[in-house]
Amino acid sequence: MKIVMLGAPGAGKGTQADKIAEKYNIPHISTGDIFRSNIKAGTELGKKAKSFIDQGLLVPDEVTIGMLLDRIHEADCENGYILDGFPRTIPQAESLTAALKENGEAIDFALDVEVPDANIVNRMAGRRACLKCGATYHTEFAAPKKEGICDKCGSELVLRDDDKPETVQKRLEVYHEQTHPLIDYYKKKGVLHAIDGTLSMETVFKNIVDILGA
Ligand code: AP5
Ligand code: MG
Repeated sequence: MKIVMLGAPGAGKGTQADKIAEKYNIPHISTGDIFRSNIKAGTELGKKAKSFIDQGLLVPDEVTIGMLLDRIHEADCENGYILDGFPRTIPQAESLTAALKENGEAIDFALDVEVPDANIVNRMAGRRACLKCGATYHTEFAAPKKEGICDKCGSELVLRDDDKPETVQKRLEVYHEQTHPLIDYYKKKGVLHAIDGTLSMETVFKNIVDILGA
């Protein structure tokens, strides 16, 4: 099963992708998480990505596409995967479609998690992220067992640098300009499903399972 998660920054893509990965036993691949772990480790890729991410801009396609295509050719992707935060531009989507087509494959589901911009800025301020394992929490809606510590790996939780309100605003603008057109792209391919992301995390997940099948 090959799934793409669409939706604005903060819509809940990572939260739901984690649950989907666990239930269907497929890897959760987040380009944002890959960039953040590279920034933390101080790699060349991390250095390239950081200036764009901190400004709320997209990392250039030349960097992102090759990185993602390499990742989906790894052994754990044989039975599918869930992509969270990729594709984000039409050229990214076209490259993915072309790479899959070479093996007679295609994306099975594109899940668009819909949340109005007005709800997003608030959500982001309460988000806490683990930069080591990628787990996401919320001070109000999904608090960790021990404040400031990741339940999964015990690392310290942080407020992401790009979650400041002015950067979130820029990320939303970039989303509407460059990523929103992907909804039409996957609609035309007949694989798009819209999901109301304003409901509780559990209800959103239940609605996704209804689409994917138990
Ligand atoms: P990325 O890490 O992908 O960030 P994003 O798309 O902006 O999305 P977020 O991770 O902020 O939100 P999310 O939808 O995962 O929501 P979450 O589940 O955390 O990308 C970061 C940057 O990297 C980009 O800006 C760009 O620079 C670069 N980048 C990444 N991919 C790229 C690409 N393909 N091309 C170019 N550049 C790329 O939820 C948010 C909060 O809300 C959490 O605290 C959560 O607990 C809470 N929450 C979730 N669901 C609910 C709910 N139903 N009710 C209440 N609270 C909820
Ligand atoms: Mg995320």
